[in-house]
Amino acid sequence: MKAVILAAGAGKRMKSDLPKVLHTIAGKPMLHYVIETCLAAGIDDITVVVGRDSEEVKKATAAYSVRFVMQKEQLGTGHAVMCAKSYISPEDQVVVLYGDVPLITPELLEALANFREKEKAHGVVVAAKVPDPKGYGRVITAENGQFAAIIEERDLAPSQHAIDYINTGVYFFMGWELMYGLEHISNDNNQQEYYLTDVLRIMNEDGRKVSVFRDNNYLQFLGVNSQKQLAEAAVVLRSRIIDSHFENGVVIMDPSAVYIDAAVEIETGAVLLPGVMLQGKCRIGAGAVIGPNTQVTDSRIGPGTVVRNSVAEDAEVGANCQFGPFAYLRKGTVAGDHCRIGDFVEIKNATLGNGAKASHLAYIGDAEIGSNVNFGCGAITVNYDGKLKNKTIVEDNVFVGSNVNLVAPIVVRSGSFLAAGSTIVQEVPEDTFAIARQRQTNKEGGAKKYKK
Ligand code: UD1
Ligand code: CA
Repeated sequence: MKAVILAAGAGKRMKSDLPKVLHTIAGKPMLHYVIETCLAAGIDDITVVVGRDSEEVKKATAAYSVRFVMQKEQLGTGHAVMCAKSYISPEDQVVVLYGDVPLITPELLEALANFREKEKAHGVVVAAKVPDPKGYGRVITAENGQFAAIIEERDLAPSQHAIDYINTGVYFFMGWELMYGLEHISNDNNQQEYYLTDVLRIMNEDGRKVSVFRDNNYLQFLGVNSQKQLAEAAVVLRSRIIDSHFENGVVIMDPSAVYIDAAVEIETGAVLLPGVMLQGKCRIGAGAVIGPNTQVTDSRIGPGTVVRNSVAEDAEVGANCQFGPFAYLRKGTVAGDHCRIGDFVEIKNATLGNGAKASHLAYIGDAEIGSNVNFGCGAITVNYDGKLKNKTIVEDNVFVGSNVNLVAPIVVRSGSFLAAGSTIVQEVPEDTFAIARQRQTNKEGGAKKYKK
């Protein structure tokens, strides 16, 4: 079996410059879902029909072994399939799918193949009964339930609007019949397009067997033509993703209040509280507690680590740490085990050894912080001199007092103690007490002058 996936439409109704099939659901482009569904159903000869934005679509889809064919002008779904004709032989069995119907499952394609085998049909359309058929083509059947035609919304007669069997956009064709039909369709319709759906009508009129495969699990057939439909499809997909995490023993307090991308891995016993977004490629360790109100992107969170009200991007943190509330782990944060990063601490491009702590109001950028370092309140790395980013190295067991400025490039050797308020500009040797601030002067009675 071969698949042809149509992905050349401009997607005008999305009101966006991004090619329609690259709009993402749970972090993955719509088209990729359709390709993966084919592959999971054992279909590996896949032709994707692309249009004006073809370069962008090809680039985004380079990881899949599919072939692309170009449809220069978008003259309709029938014309799009015609563009793939050099890859379709008369004896082929062809599934045609739309890149903007992303939620169909491998089970559906398997059931469709079995159905067509049993029916010995030359063509099959998958139809679904839906609560709101508006916008979809309707499948018209004869009195005996046999296929008659598919009529687009805009071409419906007034009395046909109530028909609630829609064309899902999933089809099966025998290769020869498909090619013959495509050569005989016209664009004599409201949109002046060559409709793929007319092929089934022609086949039927020619006495070929066209069957209707009914599957009323309509949520998988959501067609995405607008931002609203994209959001609706995302709701359906997220609930599938969440169900699979529930199966693995992840604890989710309110499934309607967490947003987990398709590529996220979560180990058993992790807890997700409301307001959590796990985006891109994340891995959350067993027993970790994430949330409430936490956004984690492309990061690894170790087992038993707690991340509350925080943001992590491209970060890798070990086991049994505590982050937040209001910690900001930026790109390149790598923390060991048992670290504690508290409120209003920002970390960027920095490694932290086991047991390192920065409990409040600190900035650690472009740094290597050893294990068991205590970074006091208000302490910062002065990593930027207006031109270059410079590095700070703080070795193990250092105590960085409150409001210390570490003016990089700088090295603080292990075991030393930096007095509060110091601006450290020279290397501090091992086990040294460093203080760099002016001595205090007390002027007796002097306050009165300032209170006048
Ligand atoms: C289409 C069906 C409709 C069905 C619905 C299901 C036709 C004529 N209509 O309508 O019966 O109920 O899908 O969601 O098939 N495309 C191309 N080249 C083109 C035109 C479209 O590649 O010249 C691609 C689009 O990128 C899209 C798919 O074909 O992925 C469907 O096209 P779209 O314009 O979205 O059709 P609908 O109006 O949704
Ligand atoms: Ca569509």
